[in-house]
Amino acid sequence: MCGIVGYIGSKPAYPILVKGLKRLEYRGYDSAGVALIDDNQQLNVYKTKGKVSELENFVIQKNISGNIGIAHTRWATHGEPCSENAHPHFSSSESLALIHNGIIENYAVLKEKLQAKGYVFKSSTDTEVLVQLIEYIKITNNLDLLTAVQLALQEVIGAYAIAVIEKNHPEQIIAARKSSPLVVGIGDGELFLASDATPIVEYTDKVVYLNDEEIAVLSNGTELKVVNLHNAEITPDVKTVVMNLGQLEKGGYSHFMLKEIFEQPDCIHDCMRGRVNVEGTNVALSAVIDHKEVMLRAKRFIIVACGTSWHAALIGKQLIENFCRIPVEVEYASEFRYRNPVINNEDVVIAISQSGETADTLAAVELAKSKGAFIYGICNAIGSSIPRATNTGSYIHVGPEIGVASTKAFTGQVTVLTMLALTLAKEKGTINQEDFLEVVGELNSIPEKMKEVLLLNDKIAELSKIFTYAHNFIYLGRGYSYPVALEGALKLKEISYIHAEGYPAAEMKHGPIALVDAEMPVVVIATHNALYEKVLSNIQEIKARKGKVIAVVNKGDTIISKIADICIELPSTIECLDPLITTVPLQMLAYHIAVCKGMDVDQPRNLAKSVTVE
Ligand code: M6R
Repeated sequence: MCGIVGYIGSKPAYPILVKGLKRLEYRGYDSAGVALIDDNQQLNVYKTKGKVSELENFVIQKNISGNIGIAHTRWATHGEPCSENAHPHFSSSESLALIHNGIIENYAVLKEKLQAKGYVFKSSTDTEVLVQLIEYIKITNNLDLLTAVQLALQEVIGAYAIAVIEKNHPEQIIAARKSSPLVVGIGDGELFLASDATPIVEYTDKVVYLNDEEIAVLSNGTELKVVNLHNAEITPDVKTVVMNLGQLEKGGYSHFMLKEIFEQPDCIHDCMRGRVNVEGTNVALSAVIDHKEVMLRAKRFIIVACGTSWHAALIGKQLIENFCRIPVEVEYASEFRYRNPVINNEDVVIAISQSGETADTLAAVELAKSKGAFIYGICNAIGSSIPRATNTGSYIHVGPEIGVASTKAFTGQVTVLTMLALTLAKEKGTINQEDFLEVVGELNSIPEKMKEVLLLNDKIAELSKIFTYAHNFIYLGRGYSYPVALEGALKLKEISYIHAEGYPAAEMKHGPIALVDAEMPVVVIATHNALYEKVLSNIQEIKARKGKVIAVVNKGDTIISKIADICIELPSTIECLDPLITTVPLQMLAYHIAVCKGMDVDQPRNLAKSVTVE
């Protein structure tokens, strides 16, 4: 949700800001804007509806000079996407400009108070309320900007990452965070600000992740001071980030999503590095080993997540219950956080999040922590808020995921959950050595099998053309394949805007089968496992209603392949690892259908990669 970039140093700020916005465009892309202070101390704000490229067109012929600036790409919360609601927002006197990610929950009360003092608002955003409030506090009390920001933020309820600059003080940017991410980059005579490290890494690897209610004062490109809302100084914890710039580019692929689908064999390899031995005979997840007392003592695991990460959680439940014989509950983080759940210090809560910033998942973590549970994070973005809020955890190490539709993060999450279940099961003695060796050995061979699946890309691209007519899709699976069906349906709907639902295959006859007719494509995950015969019956029920069955089967299948309309043949693996193989063709199917329909695959409408508002 909303991307923030800031720069102060000796270079022209605009090119750095715009490049940074492009790196952050995955966070939101309905409008964009920039504020710059030029050498004559003019504070220029340019903003427009649409993507960053539209901002670039908009500023042609405009004064974009200045060595200090802030910029923003927006995902609308308050007010429709339009240039008035785009950030930065000016204060009334136009001496302050502010950008914001998050939601000011009490904005209506604050706005009324300011309106009563004569303040007039040009936009319908909560952000404009904040900049006016800062200005009001500053002018009425004759304060400097930092103090005014501190006092204003004490009045605010909600989430924010903000950056503010002042016309008469081109030597400083003031930035603050609460429940929305913000990173400061420390370069050589220049300082950067961003929602995550991706816009910063090409200039410096030294970063400071701000914590909640911390305010950073970036002065002259050289001095970084961090204080809290009450002005107590905090020593910044400077970290080194390692990120390969190539990971942030499309690298010859037409979309990030396709690139990320194709990266999966390498990603799974990276995810297992140092955890599964090269011989494929042992697996050890250090976070489990290091905290084995609490993990072994746990009476119950609760997994909290949203979206695709929630689908990975459903697979994790089956893995942990199967191998470790511990009950596992899977919860939507957004529901869990508001329903007064029963949690205690014998629970282990696993939070799964690619971005590590999802507001609901973070809130679920905080709630579970406050009730004494031990919190284990499974995240991708290094240094993000969830890993910092947990007791321990394991990164999935799949590299930055830029496409809004999650692909490699899902398979990375399932891989970590598999390693977690195996490590714990071995510690508990709930898995015998033969089964352990079989699963680890198979896990080790998944990257090679994924490469085989990727060879089907052209075939899937071809068959996708058949289905662009469809307004609905059904996805079916059982056991480990049921969450894969949910994930396949989510992928299709979010990027192609075709309505799609996933069901456990046997649930069809309890209602959804009424939808099946000759127009209805039904994707069935029908690999050879314990429920194969049952899935076969489910397929027959669909064929009897003339549904179009696209079956995902194993190579050499001779039964389902005869009755399905289309078969996608995959290499075999063991049942519990099937999701790592069967998810990949469903990602490709969704991708190609969306491409055939001319959709904006990497930045689908209404979505954002990192959901930092609830
Ligand atoms: O960053 P997270 O894993 O916490 O994100 C959770 C969901 O917002 C995310 O998986 C979303 O559903 C994706 N767009 C799915 O492709």
